[in-house]
Amino acid sequence: MRDFIKFRKIHPLILVLFLLSSIICSLCLSSSSLNPTPLCLPNDKSALLQFKNTMSIDDSFSDINYYPKTNSWNESTDCCSWEGVSCDKATGQVIGLDLSCSLLVGSLHPNTTLFHLQGLKRLNLAHNNFNDSSIPFGLSQLVSLKDLNLSFSSFSGLIPSDISFLTKLTSLDLSENDQSFDSHSFEKLTRNLSELDNLFLDSVNMSDVVPTPSKTCLHL
Ligand SMILES: *[C@@H]1O[C@H](CO)[C@@H](O)[C@H](O)[C@H]1NC(C)=O
Ligand SMILES: *[C@@H]1O[C@H](CO)[C@@H](O)[C@H](O)[C@H]1NC(C)=O
Ligand SMILES: *[C@@H]1O[C@H](CO)[C@@H](O)[C@H](O)[C@H]1NC(C)=O
Ligand SMILES: *[C@@H]1O[C@H](CO)[C@@H](O)[C@H](O)[C@H]1NC(C)=O
Ligand SMILES: *[C@@H]1O[C@H](CO)[C@@H](O)[C@H](O)[C@H]1NC(C)=O
Ligand SMILES: *[C@@H]1O[C@H](CO)[C@@H](O)[C@H](O)[C@H]1NC(C)=O
Repeated sequence: MRDFIKFRKIHPLILVLFLLSSIICSLCLSSSSLNPTPLCLPNDKSALLQFKNTMSIDDSFSDINYYPKTNSWNESTDCCSWEGVSCDKATGQVIGLDLSCSLLVGSLHPNTTLFHLQGLKRLNLAHNNFNDSSIPFGLSQLVSLKDLNLSFSSFSGLIPSDISFLTKLTSLDLSENDQSFDSHSFEKLTRNLSELDNLFLDSVNMSDVVPTPSKTCLHL
């Protein structure tokens, strides 16, 4: 009986202690969130700036939906704050690049520094003008890529065969370019890209794609 009374007396004290500790805890948390998030990595920054320098801006095109995002890219600022760039909050690595509708004109070469951004999970270059260049072989260096959007961007030629190495892709949009798949690339892509949920290939020339024989045909 006495023990029970003791417990009832202690109880409010425990409550006060609990409240105090939770106040202290939330203070700790808010001060830790004041810590600066990591700045963008020097290699990522120089890769982005070098890419910017290989492209020009089509000033003649005026449309409310288009805007030269790379104009805000400035050597003297943190690249995680640049328009179209998103970084991992813990490591500072560039993980997203959305340069859709950015009035970019120029060719993408196999030596493009875009391929140095190996933390990239999302890349959107849609609605620009890549001047009928082909998407270079080497794309598979972007090993973390989950979402790739190169639609409406005046790419031409063969879709690089190493696209089938990007096994983490969940969304791929190559629509409305003058591109084609060679005889086996498409088959490799469908075999290897098992995470793919969205695949847009409107206007991609598939006439060289060899249809995969079904098992029943093989048995004939
Ligand atoms: C970059 O930013 C600095 C400081 O804000 C500014 O003085 C400089 O003119 C900017 N450079 C470009 C190329 O916009
Ligand atoms: C576009 O490609 C043509 C032909 O290959 C070339 O002469 C021209 O300089 C390129 N334009 C740009 C902006 O890269
Ligand atoms: C990248 O390749 C293009 C075309 O082959 C060439 O004109 C350019 O100078 C190269 N850039 C670098 C940095 O090597
Ligand atoms: C690709 O980007 C364009 C422009 O941002 C957008 O309209 C389109 O829906 C995107 N495609 C996918 C599959 O998200
Ligand atoms: C499938 O992807 C793996 C890992 O990226 C790669 O090693 C393999 O060669 C790819 N296979 C094809 C058919 O592209
Ligand atoms: C598609 O590619 C084939 C073979 O490369 C070519 O003969 C055909 O003209 C192309 N079709 C279109 C619509 O460009």
